[in-house]
Parts: sequence; C-alpha cells; structure tokens
Amino acid sequence: MCGIVGFTGSDAALPVLLDGLASLEYRGYDSAGVALQVPGDGLWLRRRSGKLAELTGAVGDAPADATTGIGHTRWATHGRPSERNAHPQTDGSGDLAIVHNGIVENFLELREELEASGHEFRSETDTEVLAHLVADELAEGRSLADAVRSLLHSADGSFAVAVVHADDPGLIVAARRVSPLVAGVADEAAFVASDIPALLPHTREVLVVDDDQVVELRPGSVRITDLDGTELTPELRTITWDVEQAEKGGYEDFMLKEIHEQPAAVRDTLSGRTAPSGELMLDELRLSEDELRAVDKVFLVGCGTSYHAAMVAKYALEHWTRLPCEIDIASEFRYRDPVVDTRTLVVGVSQSGETADTIEAMKYAKRWDARIIAVTNVVDSSMARLADAVLYTHAGPEIGVAATKTHLAQVVALELLALYLAGLRGTRYTSEARDLLAELCEIPSRIETVIGRSDDIHPVAHELVDVRDFFFLGRGVGYPVAMEGALKLKEISYARAEAYPGGEMKHGPIALIEPGTVVVGVATRSHVYAKVLGNISEMRTRGATIVLVANDGDDTAAGLADHVLWVPSTIELFSPAVDTVALQLFAYHLAKERGRDVDKPRNLAKTVTVE
Ligand code: AGP
Repeated sequence: MCGIVGFTGSDAALPVLLDGLASLEYRGYDSAGVALQVPGDGLWLRRRSGKLAELTGAVGDAPADATTGIGHTRWATHGRPSERNAHPQTDGSGDLAIVHNGIVENFLELREELEASGHEFRSETDTEVLAHLVADELAEGRSLADAVRSLLHSADGSFAVAVVHADDPGLIVAARRVSPLVAGVADEAAFVASDIPALLPHTREVLVVDDDQVVELRPGSVRITDLDGTELTPELRTITWDVEQAEKGGYEDFMLKEIHEQPAAVRDTLSGRTAPSGELMLDELRLSEDELRAVDKVFLVGCGTSYHAAMVAKYALEHWTRLPCEIDIASEFRYRDPVVDTRTLVVGVSQSGETADTIEAMKYAKRWDARIIAVTNVVDSSMARLADAVLYTHAGPEIGVAATKTHLAQVVALELLALYLAGLRGTRYTSEARDLLAELCEIPSRIETVIGRSDDIHPVAHELVDVRDFFFLGRGVGYPVAMEGALKLKEISYARAEAYPGGEMKHGPIALIEPGTVVVGVATRSHVYAKVLGNISEMRTRGATIVLVANDGDDTAAGLADHVLWVPSTIELFSPAVDTVALQLFAYHLAKERGRDVDKPRNLAKTVTVE
C-alpha cells in the first residue's frame, strides 16, 4: 500500500502535493518523492528515504512556477526503502516520471525483456518497469494516454499509477487496476489521488475511477477512457465526510477499515507467489534450496496475534512437510534453552518486524547458527535485516492496535511457506499443491462473505454486551482461532476471555462454567468436528450460553447453539483465515457496544520494543 497524488492547475503544485501526501501518509511512510513539470525546462525530481518530513525539508530549491506534478509516499514491497527505490521512478531520460501504488506481478519477466532490449535499470522496484514500458510506447509515437493504457495490457497485478512527461505540459495521465484511485476537478485545476482525504481541501466533488480506466487530467478538466480508448461518463460523488473520517475511508475506526481490507491484504500477499507448481517467491532469499532441504526441525516464534498465526502454521507445516515443528511465545524461547543447531529453521513472525521479544529470539537462534526466516509486514525492519530470508506480508500499514489484516496475511504467508517447503522436500505431489493453491486463492472471497455478514454478528454482540466471562474453545486449527478470538475480545472490549482446546475443559476449567457464562466455540467442519460438538454439549449441559462459528447450513451445530456466526467452508487447514474474521467482528461489535476506543485500547502499544 502506498499513496499517490497528482495536481495540475494554475497555482504552485508543490504545496498541494505535499499536503496531499501528508494526508496519505497513513498508507505508507518509508520514503517519499515528487516530480514537477518545470515550464520549458523538463522535470524536477526529489526523493527522500524516511518519513515525509525528510522530503519536505529537502524541497527548498523547488521551482515555484511549476503548476503540474505528481507525488508518492511509499510502503515498500519490491526493494528496500531507499532514495533510489523511492518514487517517482523514471526511465532514465529525465523526461518521464511515474508514481505507483500496487504490485506488478510479472515485473521480473517484463524487466528481463526490457533489459534484453537495452533498457538500464536503476532501482529494485517493480515500478521502474512501468516507466520503461511507457517510454517504449512513446518512442513508437503513441500519446501519453495510449502509452499508459498499454500498461493495462502488459502488466499483471494491482496498480494505480500517475505519469507526467516533459513534452506534455499541464497533463497528468493516471490509470487504475484494483488499487484505489480517485480524481477531482475544480476551477482551473484537477487532482488525482489514492484516497479522498488528499482531495478534500480542494474539492468535495469526486470522480471514482474504476478498474482498467485511464484518466487524463488538465487544469479544469478530467477525461476518463476505457481499455479501448472509448470516453466514459464518470460517476460523480459529493463527499460529506471530514478529513479524519475520510482517512478511515468512511469507516468509524481504523480497525473496522482494516477488517474490510482483509480480502485485499490476503490477495496481495498471495499475489505473484502462487505458481501452479507450488513454487514460492521469497522476497529476499539468502538461503539456498539445499540449505532448506537440510532442515530437520522448525521453530515458529512470535508474540500475541503473530504467535497465533504461528500456531496455525504448525498444523500446516507438520502435515505437509512431515518436519517436526515447535511453536514458542518469543519471550519464552531463548530462556528455555531450546535445542537449536545448523539444521534448525527458525521462523520469526511479526507484523512490525520490531518486537523486541521476537528479535531477541531470532538473535538467539542466530548465535546457534540456525537458518532464519522472517515473516513480516515491514520492509527492511530489524527482523527483515536479521533474517537469512524474508517473506513479506503485503497487508499495507496497520494503524489499529489490534492486529487484523496483518494476522490473516501472516496465516496465508505461512501456509505458502509450508507448501513451498513441502515442495522442496517432495512430501506433496505437484497436483495436490496446485489444488491447495487454487483453494487458497478463493480465501479472499470467502473472507468477503463473512465481512458481508457483519450486521448479523452485531445483534449477537449486542445481546451479550454485559457478559463478564467468555470461554473460547476450539480443537485442531480451531484452537488458535479460539485463542485469537479471545485475545481480540480481551484487548478491545476488556471482557475476560479465556481460550482452551475443547478437550482440556474437563481437566479443570469446566468448574467455572455456570449459567451466564458464554462459550464461543469454533465448530466449523474438520476431522475433529464431532469432538468439538461433544465438548460444546458438555458446556451447554452446565448452563453456558453457546455461540458457535459454524459452516453455512450446518443444522447440527445450530441445534446446539444459542447464536451462530455463519461462515463459508474451505479446506480445514485454511479455515482459520475465514473463521477468525467472524470472531474479529464479534469482538469489534461488542467493544463498540461497550463504548471502547477500539483503535487505541488502554495499556497497549502497537509495537512493543521492550523485553
Ligand atoms: C495484536 O492484536 C496485538 N496488538 C499484539 O498481540 C501483537 O500481535 C504483538 O505485540 C506482536 O506484534 P508484532 O506482530 O508486531 O511482532
């Protein structure tokens, strides 16, 4: 996730671009840049690594008479945060500049072709490929709009782009596929941006750009065309939100927005990595296949929600790879003298990549010369630098303290890693991996289905708002789902919530079950489904109120429950990525009913950098 902005008008462009970038910084903030058209003198470009303030402090010599330009604030996906990987990217001519939000899935292939035809690359980004492709089209005599349109034919993946060229003064051409893009028009000015907040100081009349559309912006006009160049009548929306509401995309809170972003987070994490053979593209690989084949034991370490993703992955890893796999809460790992050696693979799981407990666990493993992989959402974070290989979750920045979209992205990234290792070790047949990957690609739409049922989950939370004690039960991969459901409820609603494997209740905790206690069971279909229902019956008999996460149409589960949170079914090992969403929404609604600040729960920090 990145933020792009463009302005063309009669006023100075730079202040408009910098203000726009400031309101888009929530979309990414590891580097930023602008490109301005200088009347009669080409383009002026400035990029800086770090937060937007670094760029703002470096534009004192910008041409004041430039009235057209584009800007970018970055959340790195391809290429670590640095000045040369910052946007705008160029084709090296000095005449063309492009900003991009999204992922070009086939960029390696395109880059090879371009290099073979003599193009020189200066960055590690996928975006630079787009700059060279546009340059080639212009060299063939095409207009800038047609050259940008050609990107929609040659590039796969998700992207929103804005392009300026020295030979087309006053013109910005933008295009979109999947990644968001909005345009605005005012007297003698036109704007384009990744999100509405960047436009609000200038206009409340917003044009929504749809997939595979090209936008030509000139001062006072916006023209939208389709893939064939046919002019379209754009949909005009009047925005009534204030800036803060707009940053939340109209949602009440960042947490709710991020819950809704989960299908995209999962899609982007899978994007470009799901070759039918089961091959996985690790973002930064400093481990050979032989080293990975030699691994005889895996440790997965993380904290909080990341630990729960690791718990899910243990089931998948052991099942698919037949490697022994242990999971550890990172703060415990190095203090228990674990058996780690050169054939051990240690996977550190962390949204931020900066959690002190997980960093220390990884350093411990490094001292024993283990192989180390980081699964993180932040490019070039401490863990990414420490590890031998990195698998990034492309969830975009997460602002709500309670992890949601990064968790689901971790779950699918770890499942991919498990499939990859299984492929390397030859423990899964290619055809089976292909079927699994095909189902994995269906997960985003299943998540969408659950999110679409938020209004059915809300009344359940409303009815249980005053309950003091919750128990969350699950078995198999349903157990980490129960753990995550309980953690979400605890951290944002402050209700007491304990999670147990269903079979463990009879060994003690069942003494706490009495009328008024709520038991939330993860009862989706699995090889332990009958056992879960048996455990739920035991709770019901003792007077507990039962809430079940169950698969659509499961009358047996419904017969045992006071309330059902319905979810679509999927392959058992993937079910956490779907079932968890129902529990996130349950926790969200219950916390809101209790009047809690879900984005900033008391006593919590988004990133815990102390041990
Ligand atoms: C999740 O909702 C929590 N905010 C917390 O448990 C978090 O997952 C934990 O602190 C680990 O953070 P990390 O993923 O950035 O390492």
